[in-house]
Amino acid sequence: MNSNSTGAVPQGAQDVLTRYWDTLCTWRDDVWLGWHEGLDRYVASLEAFVGAPPGSIVTDANLSTLLTRIASCFDYRAPRNRVLTTHLEFPTVPFIWNAFRRYGAVVDVVGSGGPRFDEDALADRIDERTLLVCVPHASFSSGATLDLPRLVARAHEAGALVVVDAYQSIGVVPFDVTALGVDFVLGGAHKWLCGIGTAFLYARPDLLPDLEPAATGWQAGDRALSFQPSTGWADGAQRFAGGTPFPLTALVSQVGLDLLAGIGIDTIRAHSLACTDRILARADAAGIRVVSQVEPDRRGGVVGLDVPDGEAVKRRLAARNLICSWRGYLRIGPHVYNTLDEIDEFMDALEEELQENRR
Ligand SMILES: Cc1ncc(COP(=O)(O)O)c(C=O)c1O
Repeated sequence: MNSNSTGAVPQGAQDVLTRYWDTLCTWRDDVWLGWHEGLDRYVASLEAFVGAPPGSIVTDANLSTLLTRIASCFDYRAPRNRVLTTHLEFPTVPFIWNAFRRYGAVVDVVGSGGPRFDEDALADRIDERTLLVCVPHASFSSGATLDLPRLVARAHEAGALVVVDAYQSIGVVPFDVTALGVDFVLGGAHKWLCGIGTAFLYARPDLLPDLEPAATGWQAGDRALSFQPSTGWADGAQRFAGGTPFPLTALVSQVGLDLLAGIGIDTIRAHSLACTDRILARADAAGIRVVSQVEPDRRGGVVGLDVPDGEAVKRRLAARNLICSWRGYLRIGPHVYNTLDEIDEFMDALEEELQENRR
């Protein structure tokens, strides 16, 4: 029940690892051609999965690297120099924005400190000084979600751009970057996309010609593969690339993505809702406080539970081979490979552990 932390990687990944090792053993320089094809195929599959046009996604090692590249496109000149964010970000987000204070970014954190987003306060705080609104789609700690259409509409009305960290939703919640009209989307493979060690950035295609990241590398240039110094930018989102890519993680992650795409996001979502319905019903019956949204149209893939001594409870569950995680709240994140019987087994054990707490 831990896909919000690390998703399961399909067995087909083992063949990819074997082929990679064979490639290393019989190395020829033109191996890179095949590896680049593999990287391009992964990007194309991601684009299809999130409704992004060709050339609008780039991959790199992690989300932090890609968010920094976005941040490095702007000059933070007053009056439009504010970055609005929330108190429910994954820690890399405030860390990066705080670093950009030295370039003039004024960072404004909106939120109550509780498990939910303060969506009214966020919408109210957007004005003509707002350059970027940088928010998660779903909180990594509580599982709470944000109403993105409302936020994107408000931000665009004020002339601000929206950066969404969708690491905790893409793969389990339908997410169409074009339909949402969002400006930047970040996500990664090793949770709900059943991959390893790779992250991605979508940038709205019409913005791309004006975006020039200062944090960059030779693969972002227009002459990268001819090994000449570039004079301009590569086409599309490739201008957000950095240095030499690491193909293995994309090749492995392709297996999980193909599997999920084959099942289809609507089927995945229906199963996820059935699983979270069951968790919610069991939590309700046991009197456990739910901190994530319960309405189906606002629910993410995670149910966040507020339980006493949650970290110890998580450890005792793990000792019983029932894996979830605790980040201030107990996070239960079933995916398409979990069954309702497993959920009952998990919730039975959770109730027992909570009773143990009371003794
Ligand atoms: C919401 C969210 N953003 C980002 C990350 C990871 O960021 P990075 O790839 O930079 O380690 C995580 C979890 O690992 C996350 O839950």
